[in-house]
Amino acid sequence: MFMQSLRARTRTSTPHRYSWLLAWSALFLTVSLVGMPSAQAGEKNLQPATMLPSYQKECAGCHLAFPPGMLAPATWSRIMQGLEKHYGTDASLDAVTTTDISTWLQKNGGTYKRVDAHPPGNRITESAWFVREHRKVRAEVWARPSINGPVNCAACHTQAELGNYSERNIRIPKEIDRIVISAKP
Ligand code: HEC
Ligand code: HEC
Repeated sequence: MFMQSLRARTRTSTPHRYSWLLAWSALFLTVSLVGMPSAQAGEKNLQPATMLPSYQKECAGCHLAFPPGMLAPATWSRIMQGLEKHYGTDASLDAVTTTDISTWLQKNGGTYKRVDAHPPGNRITESAWFVREHRKVRAEVWARPSINGPVNCAACHTQAELGNYSERNIRIPKEIDRIVISAKP
């Protein structure tokens, strides 16, 4: 339909006018490609600018790589000093890796707004700001198998792996038996 009218127009129009049509189409295409949202304005990446590879490797196997800024440096120290008894599991690492990750966490910890001194259980999910931000999430919702508790950030924050927790990327899984695969960027 569009091609037909285009052909009809080009037949009747001069080559000069046709080249204008092409130029405008090219311009339109360029503008729409350049204007494509990669990161929405005002959305923050809460991960540090450079991710430590060993943090990603060792601390994102059982849960996602929590943004270091969400706990104070002193709280990260406590966590790193107790890895052999880590929330009911053994997450201990060799001395060099432990030191590398600890140093990096000290540098990048506490950057998120209103980070508590030491939240209960050294948990992000028990920090006052976290409880407040999630006060509208009912117990029944946390308990859905597709969510399985507040630690599973990516169940609702579809861009959590990218450090993006902004409101527009939240999708709360409704069906209780659906398996949620975090959305691609
Ligand atoms: C062997 C699996 C495993 C590894 C490896 C692991 N963790 Fe965990 N982590 C857990 C479990 C299990 C919990 C508790 C989850 C829950 O309560 O649902 C947890 C919880 C946490 C929490 C608290 C989450 C909250 O409730 O806010 C932090 C922080 C954390 N881990 C940091 C780390 C860091 C840092 C590393 C790397 C040095 C690491 N974890 C490696 C299993 C692991
Ligand atoms: C049950 C789904 C769910 C889970 C799981 C969840 N959140 Fe949220 N999160 C929400 C909702 C809903 C809000 C509130 C949005 C609003 O009203 O502004 C929110 C808000 C936030 C905000 C504030 C966003 C902003 O721009 O104001 C942050 C940061 C956040 N969550 C981090 C986390 C982290 C970190 C985890 C995992 C440790 C997590 N959330 C787990 C649903 C969830």
